[in-house]
Amino acid sequence: MSSTSSPFIPTLLNDSVALVTGGGSGIGLEISRLLIAHGCSVCIMGRRLPVLLSSSQSLGSSCCTYYRGSVRLPQDCTAAVKHTVETFGKLTILINAAAGNFLSSARDLTPNGFSAVVSTDLLGTFNMCHSAFPYLSSSSSPQPSSPSPCIVNISATLHRPATFYQSHASASKAGVDSLTRSLALEWGPLSIRVNGVAPGPIGDTEGMRRLGPGEEAAREIAGERIPMGRMGRKKDIGYAVLYLVSDAAGWVTGETVVVDGGEKLYRGEQ
Ligand code: HXC
Repeated sequence: MSSTSSPFIPTLLNDSVALVTGGGSGIGLEISRLLIAHGCSVCIMGRRLPVLLSSSQSLGSSCCTYYRGSVRLPQDCTAAVKHTVETFGKLTILINAAAGNFLSSARDLTPNGFSAVVSTDLLGTFNMCHSAFPYLSSSSSPQPSSPSPCIVNISATLHRPATFYQSHASASKAGVDSLTRSLALEWGPLSIRVNGVAPGPIGDTEGMRRLGPGEEAAREIAGERIPMGRMGRKKDIGYAVLYLVSDAAGWVTGETVVVDGGEKLYRGEQ
């Protein structure tokens, strides 16, 4: 991808190395694309080999590698981190973008269905942070001019305050936001920053295809309830991530930034 249209300089993340879970598709792929376009080397992790192969090819082989595995399994998380460090020499950025979801009323949701989503979104985020921690802490530099290692957790706005048929994903994402704050508190003294991005409705994503009202209706709804008058684009989320992983956010930690075109104002949120 060319970074000529980017508001950030192309060397923003030179010498950085990122691991992006869910990096083979959707918002995770766009984040990976933008990281690479700004000088970062990236390992994308996911469960589907054909998706990883075609996405890593499109991202460029010199700055991208992939690891097939599930964030639900601690051993896969450790192996993905090790693969990244063996390939690029270090790990300075972790992006947790892997997520699972489907629509179900709480009454119809089975305990196993609830568990499938919590173990992907919340436990998976913890597993990855836990596996990455030793490498992130060893890449933190005593020089204040070097970018601090960091984690960005992709959250959601579903749980703010609540969404029908999303009890599993809402509980998971509320847990992710809490984990963001707890890890920021514990790991700040080691110069590891931990933040989140909470996307509003983003067009052309698997989440919107599975959970949204259809493209036409989504556009109408966006006109009514999103002050900025449009659905989000994947790059809206990618740019928020670029800011958070850059030096510009060097004193920002424990925050989950809502990127939703102002939809929360319509919902009456603070
Ligand atoms: C009801 C379902 C279901 C569905 C799975 N289950 N899909 N229940 N409706 N559509 C239940 C199953 O019945 C089963 O429970 C349990 O979940 C486990 O099912 P498995 O088939 O074994 O699936 P598994 O491999 O464990 O993974 C389930 C999954 C996965 C996590 C949901 O399919 C997945 O990741 N899919 C979505 C990927 C995706 O869309 N990612 C983007 C998310 S977007 P029982 O009791 O029957 O055994 C997002 C942002 C939200 O999160 C913002 C939106 C606006």
